[in-house]
Amino acid sequence: MKVGFYQFNPLFGRKHVNLEKVTEATREAQMDLLVLPELFATGYQFTSKAEALNLSEPVPEGETTQAMVRLSREQNIHIVAGLAEQDGERLYNSAVITGPNGFIGVYRKTHLFFEEKLWFEPGDSGFRVFDTSVGRIGIMICFDWVFPESMRTLTLMGAEIICHPANLVLPWCPSAMPIRSLENRVFAVTANRIGSECRTADQCLTFIGTSQITAPDGSILARAPEQEEALITVDVDLAMAANKRLNPYNHLLEDRRPEFYKC
Ligand code: ACM
Repeated sequence: MKVGFYQFNPLFGRKHVNLEKVTEATREAQMDLLVLPELFATGYQFTSKAEALNLSEPVPEGETTQAMVRLSREQNIHIVAGLAEQDGERLYNSAVITGPNGFIGVYRKTHLFFEEKLWFEPGDSGFRVFDTSVGRIGIMICFDWVFPESMRTLTLMGAEIICHPANLVLPWCPSAMPIRSLENRVFAVTANRIGSECRTADQCLTFIGTSQITAPDGSILARAPEQEEALITVDVDLAMAANKRLNPYNHLLEDRRPEFYKC
C-alpha cells in the first residue's frame, strides 16, 4: 500500500486557490492514501468567531468535503483532510475521510491548541477508526499528539495507520512521533504545512513543515524539509502494525496493566 502526504503553504481564506492547488498537485500522484494538513483549505489563524464561521462548512455537504469526494473518486484514493466544520452555531476543527465510494466519516479534534479555543468547540466525536478497503485508519489532529492517550486509544480501537493532519508551530512533534509509532506499533502520517500567518499586529505563527511517515519499529520512512512544498509517498505493509507480539513472552497490548494506570 502506498501512503503519502502533501505539505504546502495554504493561503488564508483562499479556499478555491487551496483546493485547486491540492487537486493539481495530486493529479499525477499514484497512491492509496493521501493525508492533507489541518485546516488545509481555509488557513489557520482566524481573528474572530465570525471569520471562522464564514469559512467553515457543514460536513459532508460543504464544498471542501465534496471536493475531496471528487478527488477520491477521480484518483481512486482515500484522503484524510483537515477542515473547519460548521454544525449550526458550533464550529469544530475536524478532519474528513473520503474514499473511491464517497464520504466515509469525520473526526472532531479532541485537544484544541491555543486560540483555537476561541473559535472551535472541543471535539465531541471521540477518536474514530475507519475500517476501509486499504486498512484500518485512525485519525488525530495536530496537538492531539501531545497526549499519548490519543494514539493509544486509536491503537486499542484497532488502528493500523494513524493519519495526522497538522499545523504544527511548536518544534517537538517530529521527534516524538517515531516513539508514538513505536510504543503503539502503528504507522503514522503527519501532514504538516509550511509558511507563516501574521494576521494580527502582535502575532506571527510560523509552521514547521517536517511532515513525516513513521513505522511501527520507530523508523522514519520519509521526512519533508522544514520550509519546502513536498508531496511524498512510501510503500507500507500494514501487517507490521497488526503484529503486537514483541517476543514469545511479551505482547504490547495484552501485557498492559490498566488496573495500575491512572487515566
Ligand atoms: C496545533 O494543534 N495546530 C498545534
